[in-house]
Amino acid sequence: MDSRHSQVESSLLWSKRLELGVKVLDKEHRDLLAGFAGLGLMVGRQCSAASLQKRFQHCFELLLVHLRHEEELMIRYHYPLYNEHLMSNSRLVKSIFGLGAQLASRNPPDDLDGQVYALVHDILPHHIDRVDRPLAEYLRMRGVR
Ligand SMILES: [Fe+2]
Repeated sequence: MDSRHSQVESSLLWSKRLELGVKVLDKEHRDLLAGFAGLGLMVGRQCSAASLQKRFQHCFELLLVHLRHEEELMIRYHYPLYNEHLMSNSRLVKSIFGLGAQLASRNPPDDLDGQVYALVHDILPHHIDRVDRPLAEYLRMRGVR
């Protein structure tokens, strides 16, 4: 049920605006949004801490795999903004890791659902639209689709 709901949620979240024209990045961004949107639904339904952590772990692994793919592409195609992009990715990892620590806490904060909402509606779209867009444009100029 969760995955179907998160697919519905992600198709609502996903828009052409977030498509970058590089297949692997678009697919992984979509999966990340769906994954974290599903986590948001679970927080809203007050699922157990164990199931929230399991879901979070899955999403966090998707994120790390995705960022590793970005890094590989930047290296392979000699992306000139490599350092800036890497720094931005590491800030993203740090903030999402912080969210995971709060999910695992014995006393999670009251605004946990607000934090997941911000991740899905602001932080990840910002990563895609502002940080990855220049990378995708650079890659497309080099024939990557
Ligand atoms: Fe990305």
